[in-house]
Amino acid sequence: MQLGLGTAALGRPQYINLRQEKPKGQDLETFKEQGFAVLENAYNLGIRYFDTAPGYGLAEQLVLEWLRTKNDPNIQIATKWGYTYVANFDANATIHEIKEHTLKKLREQWEVSKALIPHLRVYQIHSATLESGVLDNKAVLDHLAFIKQEYLLEIGITVTGANQLAIIKKALDVAIGGKQLFDAFQVTYNMLDQSLDEISGELVRLEKKIIIKEALANGRVFRNKGYKHYDSLYDKLERLANKYGVGTDAIALQFCGQRIPKSIVLSGASSSKQLKQNLKFNTFRLTEDELQELAAFKIDPNAYWEERKQLKWN
Ligand SMILES: NC(=O)c1ccc[n+]([C@@H]2O[C@H](COP(=O)([O-])OP(=O)(O)OC[C@H]3O[C@@H](n4cnc5c(N)ncnc54)[C@H](OP(=O)(O)O)[C@@H]3O)[C@@H](O)[C@H]2O)c1
Repeated sequence: MQLGLGTAALGRPQYINLRQEKPKGQDLETFKEQGFAVLENAYNLGIRYFDTAPGYGLAEQLVLEWLRTKNDPNIQIATKWGYTYVANFDANATIHEIKEHTLKKLREQWEVSKALIPHLRVYQIHSATLESGVLDNKAVLDHLAFIKQEYLLEIGITVTGANQLAIIKKALDVAIGGKQLFDAFQVTYNMLDQSLDEISGELVRLEKKIIIKEALANGRVFRNKGYKHYDSLYDKLERLANKYGVGTDAIALQFCGQRIPKSIVLSGASSSKQLKQNLKFNTFRLTEDELQELAAFKIDPNAYWEERKQLKWN
């Protein structure tokens, strides 16, 4: 497993999660400096895969600015198209992002994101759904195929929700010029939602890239009084964290890495401190018994996503 850095929490002061630590600087300039420092620390700690999106506020531009200070062909960037950030860094905003899976939005966001070349490796549809019809939109799919060929990129989708598998299966059926269009799949996977298990073997067989997001279940893997129903999971995680001398975050990340080998697991760290803790995942390996014990905590994907829907931007 490779740990990548997701930049969703670096580009917007508000994010959907169980926030345990508020970002220190609330003014935009300090916030930006902190984000820049996390990127730099991540690089110094050996991270070479960075996931971003225009929908993450200033994250994509921050990544671009930071790349200009680097000269390392090993840095790989994945970005997305399909969401526009509209909250304008206003803590009281009620609408944070607008989804638009049209050819117009693809063309508009690609014009900006292509500045990430030559580091850009993966270009993804941000949160592909069956309802948005994006996987049936011939004009969009043809344009993605054009971008793939012209710029030698991997084309991907990110999926969210109880029907992640149905969307992945549909995406695997999309072929342009006799070749499958999609090479990369960014999927939610963690101890609570393990639905990816059903198709991960097939994705590996097809040599697709698997990127895991929300490995910490948006913070739900940390003991929380509001989630008493996970107390036995918290007990187990804390026992393992104690045994290996790491935090529960590292146990959760290592669980994902061992269950879905060859994947890239994204850290959603919002600070360098969290990132350093996350990186302790590679100081130990869970035993088969431990993996099985943790796997037993999975819940029904519908229940998982219902609970996820209740999380607030904060
Ligand atoms: N394509 C999509 O639709 C989509 C959706 C979600 C995520 N993603 C990608 O996946 C990446 C990761 O996902 P994610 O951030 O949503 O989920 P995540 O990794 O499950 O959760 C991140 C949460 O964990 C907390 N955290 C991390 N390390 C910690 C530590 N050592 N101690 C305490 N808390 C810790 C953070 O805390 P604080 O908030 O308290 O700082 C944050 O709340 C994102 O950055 C993004 O690139 C993509």
